[in-house]
Parts: sequence; structure tokens; C-alpha cells
Amino acid sequence: MLKDKTILLGITGGIAAYKSAELARLLIKEGAAVQVVMTANAEAFITPLTMRTLTGRPVYSSLFNPSYGSATVHIDLAREPHMVVVAPATANFLGKIAAGIADDLLSTVLLAVNLKERPVILAPSMNTVMFHNAAVRENIELLRKRGYIFADPLAGVLACGDVGEGRMVEPAQLLQLIKDKFPAREDYGGLTVLVTAGPTRELLDPVRFFSNHSSGRMGYALARAARERGARVLLISGPTALEPPPGVEFHPVVSAREMYDVVMDKLFLADVIIKTAAVADYRPEETYSQKIKKGGDLLVRLVRNPDILQELGSRKGNYILVGFAAETENLLNNAHKKLAAKNLDLIVANDLTEEGAGFTYETNKVNLLYRDGHVEELPLMTKYELAHLILERIKIII
Ligand code: CTP
Repeated sequence: MLKDKTILLGITGGIAAYKSAELARLLIKEGAAVQVVMTANAEAFITPLTMRTLTGRPVYSSLFNPSYGSATVHIDLAREPHMVVVAPATANFLGKIAAGIADDLLSTVLLAVNLKERPVILAPSMNTVMFHNAAVRENIELLRKRGYIFADPLAGVLACGDVGEGRMVEPAQLLQLIKDKFPAREDYGGLTVLVTAGPTRELLDPVRFFSNHSSGRMGYALARAARERGARVLLISGPTALEPPPGVEFHPVVSAREMYDVVMDKLFLADVIIKTAAVADYRPEETYSQKIKKGGDLLVRLVRNPDILQELGSRKGNYILVGFAAETENLLNNAHKKLAAKNLDLIVANDLTEEGAGFTYETNKVNLLYRDGHVEELPLMTKYELAHLILERIKIII
């Protein structure tokens, strides 16, 4: 999984430094090359010899050591790795990075790393009072905003006996986070994937709307997975509680008509269009500009919204078109009809009555129906796993 990847592992002076030895071992087991840079304080907790023996590489710690051979070792170290991980990262170290201080090798390397080219993960480790100190909180927020990734510490009993947040994440969790940051495969390089996600909201008045239970999770998982596989991703989403995945071009919309307009505007860019959005089929005929005051019974007339997918199917050019079908009965039959009526290449059929499937879950259980009539029944899996699987299948059609 991490074959051909070089990870720079920075170790600062905290008791959790012993966990970095285990992290280095796990990374090497995954096929990564690990280059260790230690601070002087880290050497009080774990020896360079331990890290050298585990990684099979010399350990760097000094800014000016003639034996390193290069006069610009800090630049070389900053350019070589695919990712930088500092574990543990002490309060002092976070403060230095936030302030741009470069007074030893590791802090200088961090300043020389181009964050746009390689991710930097920081795994804080400190006493809980220190972790909650306003200075440390502000440094962490500032670094997050600048694009550093945090492996947030865990709560528990700390080395000093205090109980609370501050314990460094376990090496296995850190390994998972590192693996998640690397694209599984780059098989979508050069392709543009347009994903619609979430519900739409159809306003009745300034405070009320018609909508549905869509969480947006499936669409966001697809956007994230497509981006990880190297695609340019356009995510057009109705209102959700989710953060857009990093690196996607995000277009927030509210109503079905707004979604229609943005999709039609961006259509010419797309090689693949995946319509996970739960678009409201109807909207109130009239949107009141003032809040409706209660009185007698209220009759609201609903009128049809455009069917975005239908329109995409009828205009179908060079793009692959994938729809979703949310059903509560006759799953395969209804999905087949939608596949044909909307001129799709693939439809993902969702039985909303299945346990663990549908809108509000992290998991999904679906059938994939292809244009040639073939049906693939899939087991329950996370939406993220399903997203990768759908992208794999689409790649075969392309
Ligand atoms: N869809 C769309 N525009 C709409 C309604 C649906 O683009 N106005 C898309 C959805 O994004 C999804 C697919 O059509 O990919 C199927 O949506 P679904 O709600 O399951 O079906 P409908 O076509 O709306 O049919 P019905 O509500 O009658 O089941």
C-alpha cells in the first residue's frame, strides 16, 4: 500500500516518542521508506540508534553536521518525502511551527516543506492542561487553517497521572490516517467527475421548506474517492452538514432548479456524471416572500421540478451517466425502468427498507444495474468503500 512512498518521520521530545518506533515499524511493513529527523529533546526519550536500526537509514538531528555531506540538508529532507509526519508533536514544537521559528533541523525542515505538494500530519502529545491552554489551542487552529493535518490526541490517563485529552494517537491509527491520505490508485487521472449530492430544499416562505432525509454522505464519499483516484471533481451539493472533501471544486446550491442550472453550466467539463442527489420532484408553486401566518387550513399546490437526470440522459454526449434509485418497493423493477427511461449507463439501486442502507447511515447495501441488463448484488459496506467500488465499475465501462 505504501510501496514507493517515502515518509519523513519527525520526532520531538515527549514520552510518546517510544510510539514512533512502532509507527516506523508499521510504515516499513507497509512498504514505505522512513526517514527520521529527531530533535535534541527527542533523543532524551528514544535513541537515534533505535530509529536507525528500525528504518535502515541514518537519522538526522543537527542543522550543521559536516558528515551529512550536503550543506542544505534541511531543503533536501523537505523535498524528498511524499509526506511528513511529526509524532509526537510537543506544545513547544507546534508553537514554533505556528510562529515560523526554525531553530533546529526539524523545525527548519517543516518550514521548507511545500504544503501544496506534500501533506504534513501533526500528532500532538502533551499534558491535558497544556493541550487546552489558549496558546496551544490557537496555534493548532492556525496550523489547521494553513493546511496542516492533525491526528487529534486521545483522552485517557496521561504519563503525569492526569486524566484527559493529550495522549498521542496509537501508531495503528496514525498508520491508517497516513494510508488514507494517499490515493488508492490514480486511475482517474485526466478525467473530470461531476457529482451531485444531498437533498434540495424547496422554499415555501422564508422559514419553511420541503425537503427529504438525504445526508449527502454517499455523494461526498464518491467525490472524495474520485479525487483520491486522481480525478478533477465538481461537487454540486444541496444543503448538508458535511465538509466538502479536500481538493474538490464545491458548488453549493439550495433548490432543484439551482442544481439544474449549475449542472447544465458545468456539463461540458464532465467525463463522468454521478447523480446521487435526492432532488425534490416537486416545489411549492408559490414561494411567499413573508412568513405565512397561521389561519385556517392551508392548501399548498406543488408543481413539478425539472428532472435533471432525465435531461442529462436525453442530451447524452460523451459522458458516462450514473443514477441512483431510492426505492421502498419493487427495487429492481423500478430501477430498471429508471435506467431505461433516463438513458443511463449504470444505476445504483438503493432499497430504503434494508437495515443499514439509505439516507442516514454510514453504510449502504445496493444493487448495480447495468445497461445490458446485468445486475450485481453487493453486500453491506461503508459508503466510502462503495464509492471506490462504483468508481472501479465505471472505469470498466469507460
Ligand atoms: N433525479 C434528478 N432530478 C429529479 C429527480 C431525480 O436528477 N428531479 C435523479 C436523482 O439524482 C437520482 C435519480 O434521478 O439519480 C432517481 O431519483 P429517484 O428519486 O429515485 O427517482 P425519480 O426519478 O424521482 O422517480 P420517483 O420519485 O417516481 O421514484
